[in-house]
Amino acid sequence: MHAEYGGVVPELASRDHIRRVVPLLREALAQSGKRLDEVDAVAYTRGPGLSGALLVGCAFAEALAVAIDKPTIPVHHLEGHLLSPLLSSNPPTFPFVALLVSGGHTQLMHVARVGSYELLGESLDDAAGEAFDKTAKLLGLGYPGGPALASLAESGTAGRFKLPRPMINSGDLAFSFSGLKTAVLTAVRARELTPADKADLAAEFQEAVTEVLATKAVAACRQRRLSALVVAGGVGANRRLRERLDDAMAKIGGRVFYPALDLCTDNGAMIAFCGAQRLLQGETPRRGGAFAVRPRWPLNELR
Ligand code: KG4
Ligand code: ZN
Repeated sequence: MHAEYGGVVPELASRDHIRRVVPLLREALAQSGKRLDEVDAVAYTRGPGLSGALLVGCAFAEALAVAIDKPTIPVHHLEGHLLSPLLSSNPPTFPFVALLVSGGHTQLMHVARVGSYELLGESLDDAAGEAFDKTAKLLGLGYPGGPALASLAESGTAGRFKLPRPMINSGDLAFSFSGLKTAVLTAVRARELTPADKADLAAEFQEAVTEVLATKAVAACRQRRLSALVVAGGVGANRRLRERLDDAMAKIGGRVFYPALDLCTDNGAMIAFCGAQRLLQGETPRRGGAFAVRPRWPLNELR
């Protein structure tokens, strides 16, 4: 639906949410074999994100909660990603370092327990996923570009084109990816690229991004003397990133935990899971709350 526009069109997204949300609830109930009267509370994404799409989810969740006389639990989208590895059969134990790499965020967090998150470093400009998407667009690949660029990179050879490793030696845990995209643009403009050139450029781009991400993620673990690294967000699906992280963490006697592939990208299960954790922690959920979504919502303002 969004591909022909080269990115998400907010109005199309929210209208599509309206069409899908009721059938989706029916399907989820049918698949889980649960009835609505067995539901304890309704968790939903309060933010951050596109306000139109957030409002559809919020309005639906609040209305459903009134209809079944149950409370609601508004959840932070990134907290959903952070805790998603806990849904696996072999979950990490607290505390751990989390590398959050999505289309909107590139962050290293220290996670002491559910609800306790400290930002260690983040991107000063583009998110890693955004850099993948923009670079894919420059190479004429479709949207969403991340997976397309990654698969093109598989057939290319890194090193023939030379791209920078931004901020790799900055000594802190910050990232910057907009310069990388500009470097790709320069290469694209220099001459007509053959399909083989494009594959090599994609491979070099992927090497650059994953090298920086892996280096800083491991540095964060060393700094905090932690051996568990959790990876969350769509870019966490990247095969080369996983390979690098596994190698680098093994070298310091650590381990990397990934959510299952279908839980890496945006999904509702991680939001429901966050809500369930809140209930288990004895948080009192809201009743009859206002429709207050938060399109911009820094994770450190959670409490
Ligand atoms: O977490 P997510 O599903 O959505 C949010 O941004 O919240 O992440 C989507 C991002 C997109 O930028 C997409 O291009 C990127 O994750 N992505 C990948 C891969 N799969 C998804 N980037 C690189 N390699 C992949 N295999
Ligand atoms: Zn996401």
